[in-house]
Amino acid sequence: MRLHPTGMFDNHAAAYRHIETRPLAAAMGAEIRGVDLTNLTAEQAEEIKHALFRHKMIYFRRQKMSHGQHEALSLLFGPFAEDAYTQGVPGHRDVHPLIREADDPSKMVFGEGWHTDSPFLPAPPAITLLRSVEVPPFGGDTIWANSALAYAALSETYKGMIQGLRVRFSIRDVLQAVYESVEPSDSPIGRLASTRESTHVSEDLQRKIRGSTHPLVRTHPVTGEKALYIDSSYAIGIEGMSTEESAPLIRFLSDHVTQPAFTCRLRWEPDMLVIWDNRLCVHQAFNDYQGYRREMYRTTVAGERPT
Ligand code: SIN
Repeated sequence: MRLHPTGMFDNHAAAYRHIETRPLAAAMGAEIRGVDLTNLTAEQAEEIKHALFRHKMIYFRRQKMSHGQHEALSLLFGPFAEDAYTQGVPGHRDVHPLIREADDPSKMVFGEGWHTDSPFLPAPPAITLLRSVEVPPFGGDTIWANSALAYAALSETYKGMIQGLRVRFSIRDVLQAVYESVEPSDSPIGRLASTRESTHVSEDLQRKIRGSTHPLVRTHPVTGEKALYIDSSYAIGIEGMSTEESAPLIRFLSDHVTQPAFTCRLRWEPDMLVIWDNRLCVHQAFNDYQGYRREMYRTTVAGERPT
């Protein structure tokens, strides 16, 4: 049975023996039940990985855990990735705090704007694990879009046209937006905002501005599934094309990937743990909880050079 109206994606639960799966939307996403993430069996871990690749984003409720337990869970998926924005919490340099205080005056939140995580790096993070500790009474949701479904839904003619194209990704435009709307502070984008004051652009920031070029259609290294690798935050050009030529292509494809029919949206509760595969989906944080505190922690799993 195919559930998505396009007939091109099936998000219903597979027959797992060690976990219980509840699909979230026709396009992607699933809640996983019946597990304690701090005490997984090998069989559960295998089925969770399978469910992640199938549903693109999976989430778990009522998973209170320490930073150390968060790290241990992340390591089941692979070694830590370079995090482009933060240095981690004391004693846990790979657990990155994403905390927005209730009185933060910035007009922008971390993760705002559709994106895949850090595609401006040569080998961007494959997988992200995000854990909630404190969430606003309403607002602060996260939304994901299935970029494999988006690729499948393109016409064969369009697929042929874009085959072989490479996208240039850079932190440039996000940095500019941060400079215009964020106050320097101790948060990840607050620290990025503080580089505005300095006369010297560090080599690390220059590297992220120069960015990287990756295939527009990438192939998942485990499942072989093809997906569009593009977003409206970091994609700044198509290799070999002028800005005028590439801009409409980037706009069309970013809009195509993020159309509502390809998305799922999560209403956070405290102690949730969400895992998504950056090679198969894009995501966006909502900027709609001014005046409320939101405390999250994130780890990222190293990825390969996209092919
Ligand atoms: C992110 O983009 O990694 C953060 C998403 C969120 O805070 O909802």
